[in-house]
This record gives sequence, structure tokens and C-alpha cells, in this order.
Amino acid sequence: MSELDDNLTALATRFDTALAAAENERALDDVRVAFLGRSGEVTAVRRGIGALPPAERPAAGKVINAAVESMEGKLAAALTRLESAEIEKSLADSIDVTYPGTPARIGTIHPVRLVLAEIARYFTRHGFAVVLGPEIETDANNFDALNIPPDHPAREGHDSFYLRPDLVLRTHTSPMQVRAMRENGPPIAIIVPGKCYRRDAVDARHLYQFHQVEGLLVGPGVHFGHLKGMLAGMCRAVFGAQQRVRFRPSFFPFTEPSAEVDVSCPGCNGAGCRTCSGSGWIEIGGSGMVHPSVLRNVGYDPDAVTGWAFGCGLERLAMKRYDMNDIRDFVENAPPFLEQLN
Ligand code: PHE
Repeated sequence: MSELDDNLTALATRFDTALAAAENERALDDVRVAFLGRSGEVTAVRRGIGALPPAERPAAGKVINAAVESMEGKLAAALTRLESAEIEKSLADSIDVTYPGTPARIGTIHPVRLVLAEIARYFTRHGFAVVLGPEIETDANNFDALNIPPDHPAREGHDSFYLRPDLVLRTHTSPMQVRAMRENGPPIAIIVPGKCYRRDAVDARHLYQFHQVEGLLVGPGVHFGHLKGMLAGMCRAVFGAQQRVRFRPSFFPFTEPSAEVDVSCPGCNGAGCRTCSGSGWIEIGGSGMVHPSVLRNVGYDPDAVTGWAFGCGLERLAMKRYDMNDIRDFVENAPPFLEQLN
């Protein structure tokens, strides 16, 4: 008996050592096989029972079974420990989906766009289509078809960027009048927003690049009263019902009669201040009845149809709408400036 006890004690020590060294499930299984497997160490000890006197055999069996139970218990505990360690490790490596993310920087709508959206809403509600034209124009469309021949002084007012002798960065959106009328017969009702370019010296009111919105209505019986009504309505849609609008006689080669469009100054409401150079009014664009020569140039019959057109500077409108005093702020790419308007 005591020899058996000694054997089992030595075996338990070896088992504990082997178990402590086992670092994964595979190693654990190797330990199990080495000690408790069919030809493992315990089996060898069991064989020794046969050599004992019959009376001592049952007690010896019990002692061995108890040792086996203890070893099985330790194996199971070790396995549990290994498994939870593995889970802990995989959790440490994984992503915490509840952690707050890095907020994406979302842009805001540019003030020129905001004003254009209001204008487009107003005109589409009245049956106008919004169409776009190319920024690179033929000088024939930009000037000649609009009654501005090569030697005309108005070309000098439109200091231009020429790409080729016959191609120019459009100096206004008016060439789209020509394109639209050539492609469609009357009646026609469109607005044309877009970028324009002039070789202006840059200051608080001038940039080499700016936006205009052109308006064109042509059909039988269209008259100046329609122009006044629609432009006044547009200004009220953008600036509010109290907005006053003024039409001042002017000259454009492609309209007759022509008028400059002014709105009452927001700074002084017409009394005169520095923003409006004391006049009480701010000019937002040009307008007039489409010149009969322009109608003829595009194949329309000036005796059958008449039309009006206007062209307004969108930056001018946005500056008044948002109380800005420097046109350069539109292109400085300063997010805090743009964000405050949304
Ligand atoms: N195209 C003119 C300009 O840029 C404005 C205008 C448009 C005038 C339509 C009359 C009719 O100055």
C-alpha cells in the first residue's frame, strides 16, 4: 500500500508540473493522454494492483480512482482557464463598436448657391426652365450675335480672357440667349445661372470670376411690364416683401429699351450711406426688351414675337442678402465664414 501511495504522490507531482507547463488546449490534451490515456501512467499503476494480496486490492482501486478524479478535475479547470484567457485576448484585440467615431466634416451650401436656389424656385414656379451653357464661348455668341460688333466700345467694358482669337471665357450669361433661341422656337422662358469671367482688377466689389443669372422670356405680346413684374417679384422673393426695386434707363447693345435694375440699400433703406455711395440704391443687373436685331440673328420674326431679358450678378445679390461687404470672401474658402450662413 505505501509503495502505491508513494507512486501516486510522485505521479501527482509530475502531473502538476506537466499541467502547469501546458499553454494551450493541445498541450492539455497531451497531458491527459500521457497520464489518463489507455497506455498512460495511471494505467501502469493500475496494473500494479494485480500484484497485491486480494484483500488489499479494493482499497488500492479506490485510492487510484480518487487520484484519477483529482487529475480530471484539474484538467477541466485548466481547460476553462485557458478558454477564458483566449476570449479575453480576442476582446482586447477587437474594435469597440460603442466608442464614439471621428465626426465627418460636412460642408455647407455656398451663399451664391443659396441665393440662386431662391431665384430658381421663384422662376420655375412661374413656368421658367433652368438651363446651363458653356463657360467657353465663341466670341460670335458672346458678342456679335448680341449686336456687339468687333469695333463696338462695349467690348472694352467686357475685358475678356481669350483662349483663341475666336474663343473666349464668356463675359456674361447673355450668349445663352442666342443658343437657347437658335435651338428652340418661341415661346421661350428660361433662366441661365452660371460663371462668367472678366479681366477686372480685383477689389471689394470686383473679381475676375463671378456668377450671373440670365432671364429670357420671348413670345407674342411680351412687354416691358412683364419684365418689371417678374424682376420685382424676384427681388421680393430673395429680400422680402418690403423690398423696393427701381428701373433706371440704360444702354445695352442687345436690348432696346434697356434698364439698369436697382434695389433699395439694406444699410440705409434708401436714405444714402457708404454701402450705396450715398445714393440709397444698389445696382444688381441689367435688363431690357430683346433687340430686334438679336431676334433676327437667331431666326425669330421681331414682328411676330417680342421678349425681355435680364442679367443679374449673383454675388451682388448674395452680398446684399447676407450683409457682406467684400466679394473676395466668396472665394477665400474660409469654412467659418461659410458655415455662419447655413
Ligand atoms: N449681359 C449684361 C451684362 O453682363 C446684362 C444684361 C443681360 C443686360 C440681359 C440686358 C439684358 O452686363
